[in-house]
Amino acid sequence: NDTKISPYITLDKTSFAYTSARNRWPVIVTGAIDDVHRAIIDCKEEDKCKEGKTIVEGLAAIKYELQHDRQLIPLVDDGQSDIGGYNKELDSLGLVKWSNVPWLYAECYLYRRISTLFAPSRYWANYDVFARQKNATFRSSRPAVLELAAKYKGLVTQLEGDEAGTKDAQELEEAERILFMEMLEICLWGNATDLSLLTSLKYEDIQKLQGSKARKEAEQNILVNDLPAAYQVLKAAQKTKEKQARQVDIVLDNAGFELFVDLILAGYLLAAGLATQVVLHPKSIPWFVSDVLPGDFGALLNALASPQDFFSSPADQGSQSETRPELLSEAEVSDLSFLFQHWSGFHQEGQLTIRPNRFWTHAGSYWRLPDTAPGLLDDFKKSELVIFKGDLNYRKLTGDAMWDATTPFTTAIGPLGLRSGIRVLALRTCKADVVVGLPPGEDDKLRATEGGGGDTGARKWAWSGKWAVVQFSDGKV
Ligand code: F6P
Ligand code: MG
Repeated sequence: NDTKISPYITLDKTSFAYTSARNRWPVIVTGAIDDVHRAIIDCKEEDKCKEGKTIVEGLAAIKYELQHDRQLIPLVDDGQSDIGGYNKELDSLGLVKWSNVPWLYAECYLYRRISTLFAPSRYWANYDVFARQKNATFRSSRPAVLELAAKYKGLVTQLEGDEAGTKDAQELEEAERILFMEMLEICLWGNATDLSLLTSLKYEDIQKLQGSKARKEAEQNILVNDLPAAYQVLKAAQKTKEKQARQVDIVLDNAGFELFVDLILAGYLLAAGLATQVVLHPKSIPWFVSDVLPGDFGALLNALASPQDFFSSPADQGSQSETRPELLSEAEVSDLSFLFQHWSGFHQEGQLTIRPNRFWTHAGSYWRLPDTAPGLLDDFKKSELVIFKGDLNYRKLTGDAMWDATTPFTTAIGPLGLRSGIRVLALRTCKADVVVGLPPGEDDKLRATEGGGGDTGARKWAWSGKWAVVQFSDGKV
């Protein structure tokens, strides 16, 4: 079911695939090696240390193979059913080396291969080699978290007040529409800080990317904005199915701040009655460094349950040099506790659920969803709106293929597009080459900007997370 358009490959010097494979992946594997090293130093049981050392050897082997451009080898069977699919696809690619392989396949293979090192272990099977980084970045997002927590509390309190009928209907609907746009924009830009790309950023830079001022300035960087159509869909459903279940799905991307803003959105949709159920779709294995695992959801709620412990500790717990942040004020603790109560309430009531599926960590694109994950397809058909977050989800929706930038979004997402019966909304900050649905001439205009790629043949403007697209497909049958 794959698209016939060629995928981006790591051999292509004009693609971000080239830099990713040569420069970024070895750094990411080195980070994983350091993390397990640190965990071994802390570990008490001898057997656990031994297993840890074997894992480090496995990671070092991957790093060596990457840096010496070896062939990709079949994955060892770790008991999960997706191994067969990975190896079958590798077989069909022939003898491929790291420097000349489809980008999407190779990057997924890298994380899947790392996971095979942990899976057979007695002590490390559920170890998240990226958790330390995810936690540290979330701690460092404190200013933006506090800003949004105060805003959320005010908003929900206001919504509850409005139920008592303090505003007229038209005024309310207009306020709701504006808020919807803002919530989704928060959610969109929350993705600009993913860890796999921003390894070189300092915490202060990350904080700058997250504030409301930054968001306002970034509004002009949304190249296509289909949010009004998505709002109409939820509003229409609210009117026609007022008393019925109305589900919104969020195919998650990153943990920490991004998950926090996803929950802000989920809580808002439920509180405003734009959905009665929100289903979150996390990954099942450590993925692209910062992606959400089910455990990250629990960790986030725990952080909110004891906010002083979490946010008043140094961002990087292992580092000696960092100073302890100031204590949170009483008002700040109260705002964060409000969030905790609100979200755990929805969770307990079954209105906010988390539903893992191994499909999300397959190597293939989402063109394969109808064939490989028919259960998910059926779920999505029942959903009012399926929101796909972030860059990787966009690459997978479009097959990470070399589409012309003016190709309609509905065409590029293949079986999930026209007549699919699924309403898709992609919230994507651009961190890779593929981009579709742009007006004619826009790509050239952006290439001509400073650092945009010029006439090098590279679409450099699309690599940094500065630009974004919000694209909708109504899938009408
Ligand atoms: O472009 C860098 C990159 O690591 C891509 O490989 C990947 O698609 C993306 O960033 C991950 O970003 P996100 O977390 O937004 O999916
Ligand atoms: Mg990610």
